[in-house]
Amino acid sequence: MSKIIIAIDGFSSSGKSTMARSLAKRIGYVYVDSGAMYRAVTLYALNNGIASVENGVDAGALVRVLPNIEISFLPAGEDGVQHTLLNGVDVEREIRDMRVSSLVSPVAAIPEVRKHLTRLQQEYGRQKGIVMDGRDIGTTVFPDAEMKVFVNASPEVRARRRVLELEQKGSRVDYEDVLKNIRERDHIDTTRKESPLCRAADAYLLDNDKMTIPEQMDWLVNLYQKIAGSEN
Ligand code: DC
Repeated sequence: MSKIIIAIDGFSSSGKSTMARSLAKRIGYVYVDSGAMYRAVTLYALNNGIASVENGVDAGALVRVLPNIEISFLPAGEDGVQHTLLNGVDVEREIRDMRVSSLVSPVAAIPEVRKHLTRLQQEYGRQKGIVMDGRDIGTTVFPDAEMKVFVNASPEVRARRRVLELEQKGSRVDYEDVLKNIRERDHIDTTRKESPLCRAADAYLLDNDKMTIPEQMDWLVNLYQKIAGSEN
């Protein structure tokens, strides 16, 4: 089967990263979590006095230091998780904390940040054989991707999933805080001027509120086989 580009977009905590990662592993593709890249930029801003939870983000200062921010990934190890490196340091855990989550949407709304990361993401797709998840992968990063999926689930289901995920990583969080953060991010992500989160006209919709992970995987693998098979 010829290699294709698979774009998986959707709301935060819709389960798209888990799905995208498992699909990539199953079909031997590279997986790229584009949200992790926005999170790494946000962490850099927090660590360098360019952003704070109290004062928000200094967009001008962040744009000036973009060339100093290097993001790369370590392939999944024994834990099955791909680790994000920020200037060579493993930040996989830090980029998932609430401090980063509360500032990542405003950072992702800065047009220069988006242009910079979109270019890097397009580089990853040069060889095809890639599964990338995010918000604008099927619309802006890879508008010609052969397979596009848009994942949706209710905010309440997504908040419960996020709480579980954070608890499994050892963080204690309040469900109401997580739900509020998800609603705020949905609002910023869907209403920002630059590449807002929306379903590409040619994306398949996966509403996974009531689907188990194995059911979602079957759905994705069937779709992949149908599309990649017809590309030959
Ligand atoms: O998928 P995530 O929750 O880790 O993404 C973190 C944030 O990054 C999210 O609030 C929106 C933003 N993002 C984006 O704007 N474009 C992408 N392609 C991926 C993520």
